Amino acid sequence: MTKSIVVLGTQWGDEGKGKIVDLLSKDVDAVVRFQGGHNAGHTLVTDGHKTVLHLVPSGILNEGAQCLIGNGVVVSLEALKKETEALEAHGVDVRSRLGISPACPIIMPYHELLDHAREKAKGAKAIGTTGRGIGPAYEDKVSRRGIRLSDLYNPGLLAEKLEEAMDFHNFVLDRYFGMQTLSYDRVLDDTLQLGACFSELVTDVSGELHRLRTQGKRILYEGAQGSLLDIDHGTYPFVTSSNTTIGAVCTGAGVGPDAIDYVLGITKAYTTRVGSGPFPTELFDDIGAGIARRGDEFGATTGRPRRCGWLDAVALRRAAHTNGVSGFCVTKLDVLDEVETIKVGIAYRLDDEILDVPPQNPEAWDDLQVEYESFPGWMESTRGITRFDDLPDNAKTYLAAMEALCGAPVHMVSTGPDRKEIIVIKHPAE
Ligand code: IMP
Repeated sequence: MTKSIVVLGTQWGDEGKGKIVDLLSKDVDAVVRFQGGHNAGHTLVTDGHKTVLHLVPSGILNEGAQCLIGNGVVVSLEALKKETEALEAHGVDVRSRLGISPACPIIMPYHELLDHAREKAKGAKAIGTTGRGIGPAYEDKVSRRGIRLSDLYNPGLLAEKLEEAMDFHNFVLDRYFGMQTLSYDRVLDDTLQLGACFSELVTDVSGELHRLRTQGKRILYEGAQGSLLDIDHGTYPFVTSSNTTIGAVCTGAGVGPDAIDYVLGITKAYTTRVGSGPFPTELFDDIGAGIARRGDEFGATTGRPRRCGWLDAVALRRAAHTNGVSGFCVTKLDVLDEVETIKVGIAYRLDDEILDVPPQNPEAWDDLQVEYESFPGWMESTRGITRFDDLPDNAKTYLAAMEALCGAPVHMVSTGPDRKEIIVIKHPAE
């Protein structure tokens, strides 16, 4: 029996990871977030009830699962407080099951201000960030200026570190962006108060994972965003500020590579993207609008409409090998039910060169032409189908083509938003 599974997005995020983590978490002992922050938005639907999670691992709705936030996650305590209160209001016992690493960098109020100020200053060149302060918080971590969760329980140290950080950031806000600065006393008080709400949840996540593993427990690592938003491997600079690919599991949770037994790559049956940046298979016609409508393609975090397009097998091929994908889970297959002819991007053309994986220099993305292969649609409902054999033949052909084109087998297919609407061809834990 496989012990530890990683669930990763293989596109530009929003692939439907939350539902899959929620589903798999009933078979595991712990669910771990290891990168990103509350820029993520994981929508879970259980018996028609919708829950959107941003920071708390998507295993929280399964009572047997311990939920851990590893050191690689940048944590907004304000967002975490809101989320835990909302879950508690629905009867979910968050506090007895959630642990947060003391090494998590804290997203401070000035990070959010800086995120907005920078985006505004960039004008037409804006990244289209979620505005949650994610980038500035990761920058502070790397510049060794960051405030960590553990600092919040040492008021003297916090006061000192915050003074240094705010001296710098208030200078930038005032002198570079011409904005109102923040009050040091206010930020210090608020941060100490927020910290106090979570003191009993502070957990040595790396140590806890080691303990669980030596006891033979099963662990599920929950990725946020997707491979094409990875700071190194994505469509830089239109990316998020963390590594969203497989290596982040080890650095962001504090485990070795032997902790990973199976990598489940989540991809939609088509492609979406929010924010700016290249999107070679993007559709600007009625087909794209139809996919957006049927797929309810609006961001779970910001409510922004998502850009929609055909499946991009070129980018997925790269994601499959960058992450060592063991199997794909194809989500939202039912959204294509009414599309007569379905196209898949199978190669890029750059000048006279044919590329079967994306270029690594970001500028080249703007000049790419896509080579497509067309597949006949199935034109009947696949909504809620739970057995592979019950899928229309054209849908089976499409999935088989995806496997062949993207370089990894399809092990799961999601046919609707509810936890139950899923085809399991091979369970990742088997
Ligand atoms: P940031 O992560 O807020 O800095 O935003 C950087 C880029 O990542 C923007 O294009 C965002 O739209 C995108 N992004 C961040 N989180 C998500 C997500 O959970 N789903 C999809 N896109 C995301």
